[in-house]
Amino acid sequence: MVEEMKIAVIGGTGLIGSRVVTILTKDGHEAVPHSPSTGLDLLSGQGLAEALTGAEVVVNLTNSPTFDEASPAFFRKTMDNLLSAADAAGVGHAVILSIVGADLVPDLVYYRAKVLQEDILKAGPVPYSIVRATQFFEFMAPTMSWTADESGVRLPATRIQPIAADDVAQAVAEVSTGAPLRGTRNIAGPEVFTLDELGRITLAAQGDQRPVVTDNGAGLFAAVSGDALIAGDGAVIAKTTYREWLAG
Ligand SMILES: NC(=O)c1ccc[n+]([C@@H]2O[C@H](COP(=O)([O-])OP(=O)(O)OC[C@H]3O[C@@H](n4cnc5c(N)ncnc54)[C@H](OP(=O)(O)O)[C@@H]3O)[C@@H](O)[C@H]2O)c1
Repeated sequence: MVEEMKIAVIGGTGLIGSRVVTILTKDGHEAVPHSPSTGLDLLSGQGLAEALTGAEVVVNLTNSPTFDEASPAFFRKTMDNLLSAADAAGVGHAVILSIVGADLVPDLVYYRAKVLQEDILKAGPVPYSIVRATQFFEFMAPTMSWTADESGVRLPATRIQPIAADDVAQAVAEVSTGAPLRGTRNIAGPEVFTLDELGRITLAAQGDQRPVVTDNGAGLFAAVSGDALIAGDGAVIAKTTYREWLAG
């Protein structure tokens, strides 16, 4: 028998957040999703105090609306608001979802913004856990769309170890109901690919005849060097493979 916990899931309508709410609810917890559409704006703080009243845990699965120079300000403001409200409400555990290797890609402002988000959490007053995941399978579609036209898709040969959103959500739910890690748990998918190779697998599965052209200057992931985004020793390795996910 699980002891029911009240858990506020901010960004609980998003890709990961909605899955986390489903898992926690199925496990017998009172998981409440919050987002602008439910009246909570983490940037202004509107609705935040009410959302955290009586919550034992807050899980922050919001995302910046853009991945550009505006993203550090988003993560700074939302984390400052979150931590002061969580502290005032006596919330005993704050959880965020960050990115494996974010600190190893200083040329990507969005990744710098995620490190800033982590640093604010670590320095704050609330016991915390950081889950760092690799790139989501679901993120391939937008990644390919940035550098695609009717003649093909350009992708760099960046090495990545992608993971299914369902597996990420499972890990976030597990961490959220445990004791604060006061540290970081890394989770990653079971296989390493180069991004261009992953693009070819994706297009083939969709019956899309366009070629993937290897272009080490194309798109966001061109800024990544070596194995920065590969989970090292100690990471939790999820089960779902990319081909299983595509087939599903
Ligand atoms: N993409 C990847 O491969 C990857 C890898 C590792 C970690 N991550 C991290 O995972 C986290 C979740 O990503 P995701 O893909 O699940 O995001 P998502 O689908 O874009 O969902 C974001 C959620 O945040 C909410 N939100 C946005 N602005 C808000 C605000 N001002 N106040 C309150 N809620 C707000 C959204 O609400 P609305 O729907 O109402 O706008 C939505 O519920 C992100 O922090 C990201 O950095 C991503």
